[in-house]
Amino acid sequence: MPERKTYIVEHLDPELGQWSELEYAAIARETQERGGGNNTFMLSSLPAGFGVPERLSEIPAFRAETRGVEDMYGTEELKGRVCLLDPQAEKDLNPDDKREFDVFLFGGILGDDPPRDRTSELRKKGFKGRRLGPVQMTTDTAVRVTRMVVEEQFTLNKIPYTDFPELKFNEHESTQMPFRYVKDDDGNPIMPEGMVDLIKKDADKSIDDLF
Ligand SMILES: C[S@@+](CC[C@H](N)C(=O)[O-])C[C@H]1O[C@@H](n2cnc3c(N)ncnc32)[C@H](O)[C@@H]1O
Repeated sequence: MPERKTYIVEHLDPELGQWSELEYAAIARETQERGGGNNTFMLSSLPAGFGVPERLSEIPAFRAETRGVEDMYGTEELKGRVCLLDPQAEKDLNPDDKREFDVFLFGGILGDDPPRDRTSELRKKGFKGRRLGPVQMTTDTAVRVTRMVVEEQFTLNKIPYTDFPELKFNEHESTQMPFRYVKDDDGNPIMPEGMVDLIKKDADKSIDDLF
């Protein structure tokens, strides 16, 4: 029997911005491609009538859910199978957690620098927590790293990371990202499709705002 894992991002921001949409599309695609069709990526706590962007709805592994994680997994029986990925947890995620948990829960919040500990909104609900090391990751990186530990049985210290990478747009323009990413074979941070363009557009916009 294949093991089924569910990755849930509980929507906590007031709206779904472009950054989040690209991150969630990357999570949905990887859940589909790497999970052999067995795993699910769920975006929970969505407002009623939420228009799911097509780039998400077209991926079979994706589910949109208006219920919150507590409504779905709040009973004593189910609660213990849910792991909250929590930057403040005492214990780090390890490959044996594959047996302990079926559901991995993440805060649907954009990274901030310095981090404001908004994951605390989910911590209050009493799920068991695991940390992914001491450095803040983007949400799609946090799901990617969790999948590598749980499904591919990496230990956290064996995953190739790049911390605070600099994105160079051209000779004169670059920006430093205040997060940890997984590195690809060429040493570049793995980022959602379209993200570098969006970051560049946002950087150009903030420069324009100065004038
Ligand atoms: C972009 S992070 C936002 C963290 C946010 N700045 C905060 O104040 O909590 C989004 C989610 O990714 C997960 N995450 C990111 N880095 C993590 C880490 N080092 N350990 C555990 N979870 C992490 C958490 O579930 C977090 O809610």
